Amino acid sequence: MLKRLLSQVGQWKWATVATPVFTALEVMMGVLIPYVTSWIIDRGIMAHDLAAVWRYGALMLAMALVSLTFGVLAGRFSALASTGFAANLRKTLFRHIQRFSFANIDKFSTAGLVTRLTTDVSNLQNAFQMLLRVSVRAPLNLIFSMLMCLFISGRLSIIFVVALIVLGFALYAIISRSVKLFNKVFEQYDELNTVVRENVAAIRVVKAFVREDFESGKFARAAGKLYNLFVKTESLQALNHPVMMIVVYSCIIALSWFGARLVVAGDLTTGQLTSLFAYVMTILSALMMLSMIFVMLTMSAASARRIAQVLDEQPSIVGGDDSSDARDGSVDFDNVSFRYSTDGAEGSEGDYAISNINLHIAAGETIGIIGGTGCGKSTLAALISRLYDATEGTVKVGGVDVRQRDLTALRNHVVTVLQKNVLFSGSIIDNLRWGNPDATLDQCRQACETAQAMEFIATMPDGFDTHIEQGGANLSGGQRQRLCIARALLKRPKVLILDDATSACDTATDAAIGRGLATTLPGTTKIIIAPRIHSVAAANRIAVMKSGKIIAFDTHERLLQSCDLYREIYTLQTQDNGDFDQPNK
Ligand SMILES: Nc1ncnc2c1ncn2[C@@H]1O[C@H](COP(=O)(O)OP(=O)(O)OP(=O)(O)O)[C@@H](O)[C@H]1O
Ligand SMILES: [Mg+2]
Repeated sequence: MLKRLLSQVGQWKWATVATPVFTALEVMMGVLIPYVTSWIIDRGIMAHDLAAVWRYGALMLAMALVSLTFGVLAGRFSALASTGFAANLRKTLFRHIQRFSFANIDKFSTAGLVTRLTTDVSNLQNAFQMLLRVSVRAPLNLIFSMLMCLFISGRLSIIFVVALIVLGFALYAIISRSVKLFNKVFEQYDELNTVVRENVAAIRVVKAFVREDFESGKFARAAGKLYNLFVKTESLQALNHPVMMIVVYSCIIALSWFGARLVVAGDLTTGQLTSLFAYVMTILSALMMLSMIFVMLTMSAASARRIAQVLDEQPSIVGGDDSSDARDGSVDFDNVSFRYSTDGAEGSEGDYAISNINLHIAAGETIGIIGGTGCGKSTLAALISRLYDATEGTVKVGGVDVRQRDLTALRNHVVTVLQKNVLFSGSIIDNLRWGNPDATLDQCRQACETAQAMEFIATMPDGFDTHIEQGGANLSGGQRQRLCIARALLKRPKVLILDDATSACDTATDAAIGRGLATTLPGTTKIIIAPRIHSVAAANRIAVMKSGKIIAFDTHERLLQSCDLYREIYTLQTQDNGDFDQPNK
């Protein structure tokens, strides 16, 4: 996992190496400064030699400046390395997610992927910067300062060792408890994120159902839990400082006590004692920093794991080698069954969303698929362009198994207007060309004519340049659907699947779109999924689905005679708008 993440450093390797080097130089210079202080005191002030004070003062200033320069360089390089690392990681993640199949996305959920791309990457970026700077600075400070203390007075160094052990134990006790709490905090963050994302994405529905109070309550509960956890963690963390202060002042008292004796005995100079005081602070704060690194690393380990999960996830659908043009738009289902999420335990037969489908559609045919909600229509359509892979059986397009075909080639030949379709923010023309960047304005106009979109585009003040808000929020449902159909037509597919793509259009528009498709795309196989019979009545043949199975497949007229369910629904829908779901209403 670590190797995989570190490989994202990429072109910033030099900055990653330069940071610890400059940090080390900065620390070395910094550690020497208190020692020069002792010279100022001993050789200048105590010896009443003002020239020496100036001389060593200037030396100290110069060393401080050098240390500062190294520090600035180290800071700059660490910023370069960590932001570069994060940018690379985000790009890699994003590219990897683009290759995910629907099944992969189902596994992580959209919100989960967004959190990983944002919060988790930021956590790793901070941890990486900290690792480069602080994890070099703290141990080096500790070691060099200890060495200086030993050099100045071996006997007094025992005080530091004792202090270090005491502080070490105290910090360990505090930190091991706060790490557990921090992990809980992160889990709670996930919950909060889910509430926020769900609510903001569905804010219109929330308002329409006047559920603001309910949603606010949900948010308040999630935020409240987070608050409590944070208060606990931070109160624990707040103990760090007083503990450290107690140890520091005890050290200073001990140093003064024993140091004064040594000074009186002539074994230690006043200057040396003063510099020892400075080293106390450095050593103990270095230990403090080390403990912070520990907390930070455990916190980011969770993020690293979550990111690695995504990077390690293999796209469940990989295209084959056959990128040739599909022979034609024929579609064949041979004994196809499918169930969502096959990684669980052996599911029972009932888990199948569709089962034992045998369907043979000739090129250029118009096929209707009809059936109650949840009977598997969308699932069946998703298998044709390989948005999911069939669990059993084979799906063929143009006589070739879809698994052998290159994915790009396949999806250029089989275009689906999904039930949950989206438009992107940008102009109408941008959205139309999104599927086919080479489409000319004339082709766009033609596609819009066929999809019955021209009539409303023409009334818009900016026509094709009209701006569309995110998700097509400033268009009506029917307008959005018609633009989505036009966008699909511009790809000039061999197989066109309209999954409930005209549900928000009135009957006349729906019929006009059907006629338009028949005349402009004579060679294209058209599969029209709809819950209402009038949308598919004109099709060459209609498949009637029930509970994941095709129970009849014939023309409208013959179905009326042979299929009881179809006839019953037809009567209901023509008489009083009955739905396919409720034949006995
Ligand atoms: N991503 C998914 N993960 C798990 N189960 C799913 C998923 N999508 C659909 N299902 C289940 O598969 C079954 C068939 O769903 P499908 O979307 O194919 O129905 P449909 O016929 O298109 O219905 P509708 O007319 O309402 O669009 C349903 O029982 C549904 O709960
Ligand atoms: Mg559906």
